Amino acid sequence: MMKPSVAIVLLLVVAEYASLATAAGPKVIIVGAGMSGISAGKRLSDARISDFMILEATDRIGGRIHKTKFAGVNVEMGANWVEGVNGKEKNPIWTMANSTGGLNLRTFRSDFDHLASNTYKQDGGLYDDKFVEKIIERMDEVEESGTKLAGTLHLSGQEDMSVMAMQRLNDHMPTGPARPVDMVIDYYQHDFEFAEPPRVTSLQNTVPLPTFDNFGDDVYFVADQRGFESVVYHVAGQYLKTDKATGAIVDPRLKLNTVVREITHFPSGVTVKTEDNNVYKADYVMVSASLGVLQSELIRFRPQLPSWKILSIYQFDMAVYTKIFLKFPRSFWPVGPGREFFLYASGRRGYYPVWQQFEKQYPGSNVLLVTVTDDESRRIEQQPDNQTMAEAVAVLRKMFPGADVPDATKILVPRWWSNKFYKGSFSNWPIGVNRYEYDLIRAPVGRVYFTGEHTSENYNGYVHGAYLAGIDSADVLINCAKKKLCKYHVRGKHE
Ligand SMILES: Cc1cc2nc3c(=O)[nH]c(=O)nc-3n(C[C@H](O)[C@H](O)[C@H](O)COP(=O)(O)OP(=O)(O)OC[C@H]3O[C@@H](n4cnc5c(N)ncnc54)[C@H](O)[C@@H]3O)c2cc1C
Ligand SMILES: *[C@@H]1O[C@H](CO)[C@@H](O)[C@H](O)[C@H]1NC(C)=O
Ligand SMILES: *[C@@H]1O[C@H](CO)[C@@H](O)[C@H](O)[C@H]1NC(C)=O
Repeated sequence: MMKPSVAIVLLLVVAEYASLATAAGPKVIIVGAGMSGISAGKRLSDARISDFMILEATDRIGGRIHKTKFAGVNVEMGANWVEGVNGKEKNPIWTMANSTGGLNLRTFRSDFDHLASNTYKQDGGLYDDKFVEKIIERMDEVEESGTKLAGTLHLSGQEDMSVMAMQRLNDHMPTGPARPVDMVIDYYQHDFEFAEPPRVTSLQNTVPLPTFDNFGDDVYFVADQRGFESVVYHVAGQYLKTDKATGAIVDPRLKLNTVVREITHFPSGVTVKTEDNNVYKADYVMVSASLGVLQSELIRFRPQLPSWKILSIYQFDMAVYTKIFLKFPRSFWPVGPGREFFLYASGRRGYYPVWQQFEKQYPGSNVLLVTVTDDESRRIEQQPDNQTMAEAVAVLRKMFPGADVPDATKILVPRWWSNKFYKGSFSNWPIGVNRYEYDLIRAPVGRVYFTGEHTSENYNGYVHGAYLAGIDSADVLINCAKKKLCKYHVRGKHE
């Protein structure tokens, strides 16, 4: 089976060599045109390494930042919030997006301070707000105690524990939050941010979370008709040739609809083979495909990646976070100040738990957003959308028994997990992976470099993480290409 394709490879390699002979400086191939790949390209460009190709599997740039038309408005299927704003350091994504000197994206600070008065019982009606407030206060106390504990753990990671183990140490419901209301508050606090339950997530590496610790506790919801992806276009436009009239990128170095299937690396260079049987030859390759893609078989490495690399990739988690949008003929939910977010306390943890209404963001649209994660995401991705619509509407009818809830007229169910170019939504740091093992995910293998949100030193899982990772990984490559500093120092287990 291998032989015919090898023959084609050799043929095309020869052809590519010819065109290369005249080029000065190193040639780099970037795999993927999401935030990290586009950011890496800019950094290379700034370092006057401009002989590169960006190969992108889909027909657009932006990756997991992606708007789509739904019920007459553009909504975000992927990243929606600039997370970490108004803190001691400036979030570079906020600098790009904000109104002073930025793109002036239409954004709304999300206010989660009123959940206690917007938490619905399994069989309908609101919980008493004082009762829920107490649960939230206790959760905050436990979290604070967890922050202190995390600060005392040995840096080797040998004493790390799950967030749930920390909850137990604090006598916080020793068998785990059990009542529907406890479960939904716990879900909101953990799963709604990390897309995995506290039983899975590392205490040491997520509490406190550098995103909020460094950049601030505020999060801003992007509801701009240009889409959150305009931050990616903004970076791309600084070095890729763009058509002024349409905003489309027309630079020949960006190749869309180009799926990389094989990366062969030698001491002297790399060859990258695509699904359409083209072969690109370069000095270095920078892979920005998601952790989920690296865990899959989509891209084959020859020779195989070393086992330390494969294990670091396999041990980290690709989480799944699903934003389900529903359109109704009219609104029947409470509106007004303090009513943006509401919770459904099901006895089945994570069953249509967190809801958002958009009277400010998309006025008159009658659209609701409900978010599910993890197992519920995988279940819902595999069932027909009308089934999901029926389940979600049944939940709303439970929450609002007196409201004569109409049938939804449209539904949008993004399928990031089933999509072979993503295989999930963002990475989450699980127990059992220490800082040293995490660093190995970014470490280059010969001439193969890695970037993407899952390689961000402090901000894995976020848009700013992807952006900063692109810069950092490009710097590692630039150090090698320009200064011959090619040895990548991975901090030892005990450093
Ligand atoms: C549902 C959802 C909600 C999120 N919410 C937020 C949020 O509110 N705030 C926040 O900060 N972050 C959020 N994130 C995370 C954020 O979107 C990501 O961290 C970030 O966009 C990742 O960028 P990246 O460049 O690392 O990866 P990607 O965007 O995945 O870019 C990689 C690119 O590689 C391409 N590719 C993959 N395989 C191949 C191949 N074989 N050949 C060629 N190209 C390939 C892909 O098509 C993609 O364009 C969310 C993500 C999702 C999915
Ligand atoms: C926007 O970002 C710039 C640069 O980081 C900052 O100086 C400014 O205060 C920000 N504006 C707002 C409204 O946050
Ligand atoms: C969804 O649609 C299919 C095919 O039209 C139908 O057989 C099924 O009963 C529908 N399911 C629900 C829950 O409406």
